[in-house]
Amino acid sequence: MPVPVRKAIFPVGGLGTRFLPATKSMPKEMLPVVDKPLIQYAVEEAREAGVEELIFVTGRGKSAIEDHFDHAFELQAMLRERGKDDALKLVVDTIPEPGQVAYTRQQEPLGLGHAVWCARHFVNSEPVAVLLADDLILGPTGCLKQMVDAYAKVGGNMVAIMEVAPEATSSYGVITPGEKTDRLVEVKGLVEKPAPEDAPSNLAVVGRYILQPNVFTDLGRFERGAGGEIQLTDALARQLDQAPFHGHLFEGKRFDCGSRSGFLEANIAYALARDDMNGAVAEILKSYSSR
Ligand code: G1P
Repeated sequence: MPVPVRKAIFPVGGLGTRFLPATKSMPKEMLPVVDKPLIQYAVEEAREAGVEELIFVTGRGKSAIEDHFDHAFELQAMLRERGKDDALKLVVDTIPEPGQVAYTRQQEPLGLGHAVWCARHFVNSEPVAVLLADDLILGPTGCLKQMVDAYAKVGGNMVAIMEVAPEATSSYGVITPGEKTDRLVEVKGLVEKPAPEDAPSNLAVVGRYILQPNVFTDLGRFERGAGGEIQLTDALARQLDQAPFHGHLFEGKRFDCGSRSGFLEANIAYALARDDMNGAVAEILKSYSSR
């Protein structure tokens, strides 16, 4: 039996320049899809997968994330006083158990691999999940839960994968696929952001990972990759002969909330998926499509 995944890393240090001016004084991970911040979707997905300890790798200007996952005494007292129990529950339910959340800073923007490495002392020698909040995935079961279930059978390193348009490979980590069993694809190779003519396939990594501890040893060598950054993709690629490595073709639809159009689409899709909003939003969309 593989060692269970009890911890998750959330790299949230990015500047979010694509969403300026909204992100001038607010972390991009706090942008709401309908009425919930992106980071909360990621945390809920981790909890659904059995994760008990949350590790945020933050940066300057990200303190709103810490406040979001803490008590807001005045607000809670006011909601309690006014009998707004549903709203109070929404506020209180975001708060992790004491001591189950940790924050560390990535002091320099040296890449995703470096951000993950900054969390090493909280992880020690256990497998750990990594969730990128920009990648929002709507499905019947959370993407990480699907991966953890598959991981229980095969162990090793794992990434979430999906098919992308061949011309889009230069935005993703891309795998060389081996044998496929159900939704699990053996990873034979992995390369960060290849040009379409160099891409080994159109199976792209989306922001969900299960990492074995050896990945941290490799990240600690600070080898630079694509864009001069320390890439998680490269560290994983160097583990290919050390441990089993699979891509999980997840069930669900992924929204690229790092782009403005992807973020807008996510808002529409999540609103349509909600019983309390579906009718009104469908009407609005209809009125635009007939213009
Ligand atoms: C990161 C990873 C890339 C992955 C992508 C998924 O890239 O480096 O391998 O495919 O996330 O969203 P970024 O989008 O941060 O440039």
